[in-house]
Amino acid sequence: MSLIKNINDFKKAKLEGKNISMVTCYDFAFAKLIEESEVDTILVGDSLGNVIAGFDNTIPVTLDQMIYHSRIVKKGAPSKFVVTDMPFMSYHISVEDSLRNAGRIMKEGNCNAIKLEGGEDFVPVVEALVKASIPVVAHLGLTPQSVHKLGGYSVQGREEDKRKIMISDAQKLEGAGAFALVLEMVPEDLAKEISEAISIPTIGIGAGRFCDGQVLVLHDLLGMNDGFAPKFLKKYANLASVVRDSVNQYVDEVQNGVFPGEENVFSATKGNVKKVY
Ligand code: KIV
Repeated sequence: MSLIKNINDFKKAKLEGKNISMVTCYDFAFAKLIEESEVDTILVGDSLGNVIAGFDNTIPVTLDQMIYHSRIVKKGAPSKFVVTDMPFMSYHISVEDSLRNAGRIMKEGNCNAIKLEGGEDFVPVVEALVKASIPVVAHLGLTPQSVHKLGGYSVQGREEDKRKIMISDAQKLEGAGAFALVLEMVPEDLAKEISEAISIPTIGIGAGRFCDGQVLVLHDLLGMNDGFAPKFLKKYANLASVVRDSVNQYVDEVQNGVFPGEENVFSATKGNVKKVY
């Protein structure tokens, strides 16, 4: 049974010491399967830029794309608490612009909350969104939308000054009203310290064992990308070979006249073939 039905359950789970599970999802077909799973909550991540669109990073992802994917995920997983990412530059220009864009994600994307990346600089945006009844998940550590500023995808918060800033940012984001905090690629001891310093749950990806929950990219945990095997990832399946083998078997059967078989064809008279259409 999912721990999370609404926003209040995030803090409750932390208080009760129950770990929150989150997976990303981007489409209706997978959302239907996730709906039948026990996962607590779904993230429609802007990682869809990498995973679905094949971009090098999340920078090109647009507001309309996030809204489209959010809507189709919520359609497939209506009972799940869905958090949708605000894409790059949709909350950076002004508070007013951020409100307008987050409002569109909530109204048109039909999600339960939004997520945005960044620390202290984004406190006024978080405050304004929460005031407008838009629940916010914050995101610290490796913030992929800042890949060009950071100079790549690496562990964040190893230096003493950066550690202090991250702890202080986490407290400020909680103070601004964020109800959960994603920590990405952070040393385990720092993630532990942050988790102990705030009362909202931390949800880690590459942030170790002491976060209040974990998030993984669905396609990664399903093993859909052979070449992608960072240390923090555990693959629970090898769908890449399932897909390749299935398609190759289909091709083989088409080439050898095995498919379609008798059970797959229509005859002139009704009733002798299982009715699907
Ligand atoms: O976009 C995303 O999938 C994310 C997760 C990696 C946390 O932000």
